[in-house]
Amino acid sequence: PKVLILNGPNLNMLGLREPQIYGHTTLNDIEESCRKRAAALGLVADFRQSNSESSLIDWIQEARNDQNGLIINPAAYTHTSIAIMDALKAVDLPIIEVHLSNIHQREAFRNLSYVSKVALGVICGFGAQGYLMALDAMAQQLIKQQE
Ligand code: DQA
Repeated sequence: PKVLILNGPNLNMLGLREPQIYGHTTLNDIEESCRKRAAALGLVADFRQSNSESSLIDWIQEARNDQNGLIINPAAYTHTSIAIMDALKAVDLPIIEVHLSNIHQREAFRNLSYVSKVALGVICGFGAQGYLMALDAMAQQLIKQQE
């Protein structure tokens, strides 16, 4: 099974960007650990990042045909993008939302997530580890779907 892992704007800056909030791990490090965890779970991870809302939406739409699950850290679009929420609604796949930081502990404008309205579940506050937790949860979900 294939799992698409999408990352939104500014996540390419991880490691350099506000390390006191987001940690020192780079997006490349996260990609590497996701590939390894996916392989151990019998999954193939397709890991992507874009600063553009339109690329993220195109990738979500395409996932309908060639992926089995979707993990997404929409970054700032979490709190603003009805378009990404609508795209996720239209893709008939299990969706898991991930955030490095605990968005409920931060500024009020980060407390609302449009993506949470359509996600199966949300993992936030565990840093880079959250991506691996999401992969574990996705593997369980894909097994459950087959039963
Ligand atoms: C984030 C949280 C968002 O509020 C923020 O805009 C990000 C990263 C996180 O992973 O903690 O860019 O999604």
